[in-house]
Amino acid sequence: MTNKNDAKIQELLQELTLEEKAGLCSGSDFWHTKAVERLHIPEVFMSDGPHGLRTQKGEGDHLGLNESIKAVCFPAACATAASYDTEMANELGKILGNECNAEGVDILLGPAVNMKRSPLCGRNFEYYSEDPYLAGKLASSYIQGVQSQGVGTSIKHFAANNQEYRRMSNSSNLSERTLHETYLPAFEIAIKEAAPKTVMCSYNQINGIFSADNKNLLTEILRDAWGYEGCVVTDWGAIHDRVQGIKAGTDIEMPGSAGINDAEIIAAVKDGSLDEADLNKVVERILHLILDKEQIEGVVDWNEDHKKAVEMEKESAVLLENNGVLPLQAQKKIAYIGEFAEKPRFQGGGSSHINAWCVTSALETAKEKNRQIAYEKGFSADNDIYEEEIAKRAVECAKNADAAVIFAGLPDAFESEGYDREHMHLPESQNRLIEEICSVQENVVVVLHNGSPVECPWADKVSAVLEMYLGGEGVGEAADALLWGEANPCGRLAETFPLKLEDTPCYLNFANDKFNTDYTEGVFIGYRYYDVKKMEVQWPFGHGLSYTTFRYDNLTLDKKVMHGQEKITVSVSVTNTGEHYGKEVVQLYVKDNTKTAVRPEKELKGFCKVALEAGETKTVTFVLDERSLSYYNESLKDWYAASGTYTVCIGHSSRRIALETELEYVTETELPFTVDMNTCLGDILAHPVTAAVFHEMMKNAGSHLASSDEVNDTDDLMMQSMMDSMPFRNFKTFVHIPTAAIQGIIDRMNEALKTAKSQ
Ligand code: BGC
Repeated sequence: MTNKNDAKIQELLQELTLEEKAGLCSGSDFWHTKAVERLHIPEVFMSDGPHGLRTQKGEGDHLGLNESIKAVCFPAACATAASYDTEMANELGKILGNECNAEGVDILLGPAVNMKRSPLCGRNFEYYSEDPYLAGKLASSYIQGVQSQGVGTSIKHFAANNQEYRRMSNSSNLSERTLHETYLPAFEIAIKEAAPKTVMCSYNQINGIFSADNKNLLTEILRDAWGYEGCVVTDWGAIHDRVQGIKAGTDIEMPGSAGINDAEIIAAVKDGSLDEADLNKVVERILHLILDKEQIEGVVDWNEDHKKAVEMEKESAVLLENNGVLPLQAQKKIAYIGEFAEKPRFQGGGSSHINAWCVTSALETAKEKNRQIAYEKGFSADNDIYEEEIAKRAVECAKNADAAVIFAGLPDAFESEGYDREHMHLPESQNRLIEEICSVQENVVVVLHNGSPVECPWADKVSAVLEMYLGGEGVGEAADALLWGEANPCGRLAETFPLKLEDTPCYLNFANDKFNTDYTEGVFIGYRYYDVKKMEVQWPFGHGLSYTTFRYDNLTLDKKVMHGQEKITVSVSVTNTGEHYGKEVVQLYVKDNTKTAVRPEKELKGFCKVALEAGETKTVTFVLDERSLSYYNESLKDWYAASGTYTVCIGHSSRRIALETELEYVTETELPFTVDMNTCLGDILAHPVTAAVFHEMMKNAGSHLASSDEVNDTDDLMMQSMMDSMPFRNFKTFVHIPTAAIQGIIDRMNEALKTAKSQ
């Protein structure tokens, strides 16, 4: 794409010295790139991200240790993903973009879209989902929101960075299909739709090559296949081999290495091991990043932004269970138990840690609203110590109330950037108190504050569970509104809550090897795994309750047969059949019935959040295309959907499908097929071209295999399958055809395949 700065940038490339060009390729300090004052090239200022500004004006760090400015802490991505609301993601982006403008930030380091391969990843709270489509769509809207304010984003961490354990060196080993189908699409969707100004490459290796050195990832996939024109920035310290990085497509090294790597670039150009043209390409992209920036003034009303944070959390919290105890009734005596009521956990630790503007607790909000509640701490929010005396008082308080609301969650130390969890338990002190309260009180509500799923051994004993996630600084106000029915819960899980850790898809291969992590579960993560294995889970992907109910009708496709690149429109009507205003998340899943490849039982390919008054009906539509039906085929090195039948499912959750209909797909794309000595007879006979040659040759040779009936219609299943899986070379052994003759047949078949393809 051409732009207004092209000519100027070409001139600058002529004027910049080699040293200045190398200097532009790394940061001057923790957050800035280098300016070239002589040529009026300004610096670029970056700041974390993703759910608020961690803008450091004093000493910088990438671990959330030193002070940053006070800023509104919005719900973390684990929460906002559960909103399934792309408009909200866009609004969050706009608000953050405006805050960046007010603080002089050029690039906001987010969104983080890595897949939740295991619930144990310490950084899951910053990531959206176990589903790449959902994560990609939310990230795309968020990026468009931030960038609409003239501020850049940095989608991260590219790619396959799914654990914290040894994240700076461990190699994520995965098949090409798994990479393309599971770990890249969230990036691909957001990059193609929203063109983030930068992409942050991850620390880890992929199949033994560091992301920052990875030409396949940063050039062949990102730029050549996806058409990305922006800059690749390293994660902080992710540079491996600076010169190889330039060749691979890594533009900016952050936070820089005090000139050491700049010197390596200079030396490599001088000794000819790096082509200056490769360096120029990098510098050209960096100059675009710097000079294309729009200057927009930002004026922030932090109190208004705080209110938005509260609203967003109301849209994100997920009501996991409710036997009718919620919403709470004003005239009842309610006990609030657990220190999270007073000190909510609202964000995670590490580089996304915000110096929050104003944190509000559920307890404080209840007091402000004059709710009739009694409070007992019961347990501490920051440790796992069961204290007899305070626990006893909590049980007594719960016993004397009409209902007990227990504010539970994970202490800060249980999950953070930098390390993974070792288990999925809540602190034992909390589990024990929940059980004790359940034995004296039949109306128990548990409100959870956590960044990723926890095991809930008491799930069947409590009356309601409200998942707040790490809900930002307004989590207390949002919990209050949801508990007391001032807002109707409308979040849906963006990840599965398994019953126990041992059930998780990568239980045997997660963060347990210093050097390598083998993604042996392949594309089967999250619900894709639990569904195909028909496993019971605690709460499925997409699940979430409301204070009202919804019904689906009239699932229709605008055509029943879809060809090649055509698109198809799916429509369904949804009715609020309850008595309250509420929002439903209509979910569309696609099942492949063609049996061409091993695939998940179904996959999310559309979602839409719809607001409905009581009794109201609306029609929602989705558009499906070839990609919606496809899997990544390694022999084609591309996405592929076979001709055949697919089922379109509309559901309230991945495990509550309400309506289904079938769709016929017809493609002319053929999978590559050539015959050799080891090709099995079954495959030869399954292809019309090779089958015809085979029968003709056999007939000429007078073989009893000439008639397809003899092979295909046998009653003897064993014989049939032996023949199907017999490699062609065995015609020597069993049919006594000489090698040269077999080779002759193979050549004929390959010729016929070529001719058929060219026609
Ligand atoms: C994190 C990034 C973050 C960067 C700067 C790194 O440790 O992985 O997500 O943006 O630090 O703080």
